[in-house]
Amino acid sequence: MTNQKQRVFSGIRPTGEIHLGNFLGSVNQWSELQNNYDCVFAVVDYHAITTTFESKELPKAIIETSKWIIASGVDQQKSLIILQSQIPEHTELAWILNCLTPLGELERMTQFKEKREQETAKSGIMAGLLNYPVLMASDILLYQTDLVPVGEDQVQHIELARDIAKRFNNRFGKVFTIPNYQLSKNARVMSLKNPTEKMSKTGDQGILLSDSAKEIERKIMGATTDTIASDQMSAGVKNLCNILQTVSPRTYSQMLEKYQKKTLQYLELKKVLAKELISYLLPIQKKYHQISDDQALEIFEKSRARAQSLAQKTLSRAKKTIGVL
Ligand code: TYM
Repeated sequence: MTNQKQRVFSGIRPTGEIHLGNFLGSVNQWSELQNNYDCVFAVVDYHAITTTFESKELPKAIIETSKWIIASGVDQQKSLIILQSQIPEHTELAWILNCLTPLGELERMTQFKEKREQETAKSGIMAGLLNYPVLMASDILLYQTDLVPVGEDQVQHIELARDIAKRFNNRFGKVFTIPNYQLSKNARVMSLKNPTEKMSKTGDQGILLSDSAKEIERKIMGATTDTIASDQMSAGVKNLCNILQTVSPRTYSQMLEKYQKKTLQYLELKKVLAKELISYLLPIQKKYHQISDDQALEIFEKSRARAQSLAQKTLSRAKKTIGVL
C-alpha cells in the first residue's frame, strides 16, 4: 500500500445472512476498489448490537460475514479486513463525537425512525440505536477516509459523518478528512414481493447469498412484476432488470430490446434472471464453502495491528485537539 492512494472505508453489520441488496449495493464493489485505493473493510459487530440480538448467534454471523467478504474477492494482501470490536479506538472516538453531535440531528435520521418502530415492538429502544450513526462516523473518520461505498440507505449517515467532521475541524482545527460516498448501479435493490420497499433479509422477498439454485429460482419466479397494465416499466420489473444488468449485461440488453418492442414476457425475464443470477453467485458460493471458520477469524488478526496504528494516530490527534491530555 502506498501513501498516494486515497482511502476507502466500508462496513457491514453481522446480523444474520448477507442478502443480494448488501452484496450488489456495497460488498460487490469492494474487490474492485482495492486495486486503486487503500481499503479498510469492517465487520461492524458493535453496530449489530444496536437492535435486538442473540449473543449465541453473533459469533456465527461474524464468521459468516467475514467468509462472504473473502469469497467476494477482497484480498487481505491488498486490503485490511477488520472486526470493529477488536479496535477500541472506534468506540473511544465515538464517545468524543457523541459529545459534539446535537441530539436533534440523530433523532432526524430516517433509519433511526424506521428501526425505532420495529424495536419498540421487540425489546424497546436502546440508546445505542440513536447513537449508531455517530459510531459509523467514527469508523469512517478514524481512517481519514476519502470514499465510502454504500447503498442508498446509508447516504444520510455519511452526510451526517461529513457534518460531524466539518464541525469538529472548524471548531478545533483540522483533524478529519471529509469523506464522500459512492453508490453502485444497484444502490437500492428492492424487495421481490413488494418492490416499493428495499430488499432485506426477511421472508421470500430477499435473496440470500447462501440460497441454493432452487431457492433463488423459486424466489425470482414468485417476484411481483406488473399488477396493472401500464406503459411505464413497473417497480418490480425495473428491479429485476437492474439486477440482471449487473449479473449479465449482455442478456439485459436483449431483454430491454424485447421490452421496448413490447414482446417481453415477464415469465421469460424471470427465467433468464434466475439462470444468470445462479451462475453469477455460484463461484462466490463455492469459494465461501472452502473457507474454514478459523481462516475467517484469522483474517481479522492479520489486519488488526496495522488498522489499529492508523486509528490510534487519528484518535490521539483528536484527543489532543479537544484538550484531553
Ligand atoms: P448494513 O449492514 O445494513 O448493509 C451493508 C451495506 O449494504 C447496503 N444495502 C443495500 N444496498 C442496496 N440495496 C439494498 N436493499 C441494501 N440493503 C443494504 C447498505 O447500504 C450498506 O452499504 N451502517 C451500515 C454499516 C456501517 C458502515 C460503516 C458502512 C457501519 N459503519 C462505515 C460504511 C461505512 C449498515 O448498517 O450497513
